[in-house]
Amino acid sequence: MTRQILVTSALPYANGPIHLGHLVEYVQTDIFVRFQRLRGHRVVYLCADDTHGAAIMIRAQKEGRTPEQLIADMAVQHQRDFANFGISFDHYGSTNSKANYTVAKGIWANLRRDGLVVERSVERLYDPVQKTFLADRFVIGDCPRCGARDQYGDSCEACGATYAATELKQPRSVHSGATPELRPSSQLFVRLEPLQAELTQWTQHSGALQTEVANYLAGHFLDKPLQDWDVSRPAPYFGFEIPDAPGQYWYVWFDAPIGYIASTAEWCAREGQQLDDWWRNPQCEIVHFLGKDITYFHTLFWPALLSVGGYQRPRRVQIHGFLRVNGEKMSKSKGTFVTAARYLEHLDAEWLRYYYASKLSSKIDDLDFQAEEFVGKVNSDLVGRVVNLASRSARFVEATGLSARYPDDGGLFARAAALGETIAAAYEACDYREATRLVMTLADAANEYVEQKAPWTLKKDPARATELQDVCTVVLNLFHQLLVYLQPVLPQLAARGGALLGSTCDRWQLTATPLVGTRVAKFEHLMTRVEADKVASMFVPEASAPAGVATPAAVAPAVAADTLAKEPLAAEITIDDFTKVDLRIAEVVAAEAVPEAKKLLRLTLSLGGGVTRNVFAGIKGAYEPERLVGRLVVMVANLAPRKMKFGMSEGMVIAAGTDGEVYLLSPDAGAKAGQRLH
Ligand code: 2FM
Ligand code: ZN
Repeated sequence: MTRQILVTSALPYANGPIHLGHLVEYVQTDIFVRFQRLRGHRVVYLCADDTHGAAIMIRAQKEGRTPEQLIADMAVQHQRDFANFGISFDHYGSTNSKANYTVAKGIWANLRRDGLVVERSVERLYDPVQKTFLADRFVIGDCPRCGARDQYGDSCEACGATYAATELKQPRSVHSGATPELRPSSQLFVRLEPLQAELTQWTQHSGALQTEVANYLAGHFLDKPLQDWDVSRPAPYFGFEIPDAPGQYWYVWFDAPIGYIASTAEWCAREGQQLDDWWRNPQCEIVHFLGKDITYFHTLFWPALLSVGGYQRPRRVQIHGFLRVNGEKMSKSKGTFVTAARYLEHLDAEWLRYYYASKLSSKIDDLDFQAEEFVGKVNSDLVGRVVNLASRSARFVEATGLSARYPDDGGLFARAAALGETIAAAYEACDYREATRLVMTLADAANEYVEQKAPWTLKKDPARATELQDVCTVVLNLFHQLLVYLQPVLPQLAARGGALLGSTCDRWQLTATPLVGTRVAKFEHLMTRVEADKVASMFVPEASAPAGVATPAAVAPAVAADTLAKEPLAAEITIDDFTKVDLRIAEVVAAEAVPEAKKLLRLTLSLGGGVTRNVFAGIKGAYEPERLVGRLVVMVANLAPRKMKFGMSEGMVIAAGTDGEVYLLSPDAGAKAGQRLH
């Protein structure tokens, strides 16, 4: 029976690049989608960029562009990265779209109709100078847990703590630098308690959730009355203004999942499909893939919104764990935070797809990337056990093609065909580790056959040409079965291997009938081995220069050519690489020598609006501290803080030269502290 399946991956935030952690999910989902297509089902795979919220607004402001420009740029980057990893979306939308507004408005109207929206006054931080309420990300101060300075009002980048903006120590408004006041603000909430019975039934008894997820919800949320959900944010906010509440915006998490429906609506408009056939049709299986950190949104709020909106709830929510690297959290400073683009500078996308598949189960356990294991799996499993089947046999039948009748193979082909349903069940359960393990047992059996028959020996004896053709026919048929079984994971390998054998490799059923009498194309390389040093070169710490002093360019130039010869220009970068570095005009408000350090001055730099940074700079030999006070300099303002022997260094002052011959940069008159350099 043909199933109708709508599949989504979580919508990535438009405020950062796609990285290896994201790819666990997109690869996991894409394998599921390709598997279902291979089985002949009717599948649509949808995604979009998640574009709203204060973080995006602030980043755009910092970069001196509009949020719309920022999200347009990110949409291009994200889709390029996904395409390079073979993620086969049918449509990729944006939450900042007309379609999304329309669907959100409809759901909102139903929430109002059902009396589920309530207005309440809450105490929020208010900027008395700018006369505006402050979103969490517009308040900075010291982390209430670890004391790190200049942390946002929702979480600490230094220790990872999350808290309410009101808990920050020494809070300041990002706009004016003023100390915020607590003022009552009218906020809109969605009541979830009236839906509690329904949500309990769905989470605990529908079979949509993994057992551990259902138990977590039962023990943490559903054991007491569900709390109202605060869904509005006061201006300024980048998002949709609530139609019947001027000056209030839907919180990013309200319209983010609605993007699943909106993306479907856009796809329907393009393909002549009906939205209701996918979202209001009990026959259609809606399957969401997502990470464990956003379980709560997708298993309580989202089904509540769907139910009130008259949409079908998901048939399945498949939750995965996080990516770790060598047992640790990904880290920029350790170089283990690897973007999709950086990975591709060094390695092949299908290697990662296979590696992830070989480790992913249906559980929510974290997945640990281990470089050695990665190399082993690619080289021994993929190249050694699968691709080698073709490289050890295809050339011998280039001239003759495959035998006209399938030879006796001692039952190998039939056994591999019979295992198909077991492999399919593993894919269906998202237990790709098991699916690939089963496929590799078939590869082992095929390799034993090759060893035993040794076609390279048969080749030497012209009298045994028929036997050689038969042996190669068997080996290439076993190889073909592997290609089809692995096609969801390795679509490109399947396409290349398929081209060799004149097969499309695009239907599961192809594994049931042997290829006979087929031509065999000239053998081309199917996959290379990975070199261990290429994996190592992908992990590069983000900043290797000491904090406080910009990596020196050459000594002050008399003749530019001389200088360039001493230090040739660095490798070309893109405009995106450049915009990652947030260069700001800063005023030196205090400067003092660090007595214990030969070269260092401690500078207090003001970025305006009451925001200051403590920076250690290696300029003691060239500048008297008191002469620096009051002058403007240029600083790297978004450099991760570094703990030094004498305290934290929170940025870097730009200078040319080294040691005694250091030259600070000064802006022309008119520039103000806090301004960004473009
Ligand atoms: O956690 C995230 O990255 C969110 N942008 C996921 C949103 S998924 C859906 F709800 F839109
Ligand atoms: Zn902290």
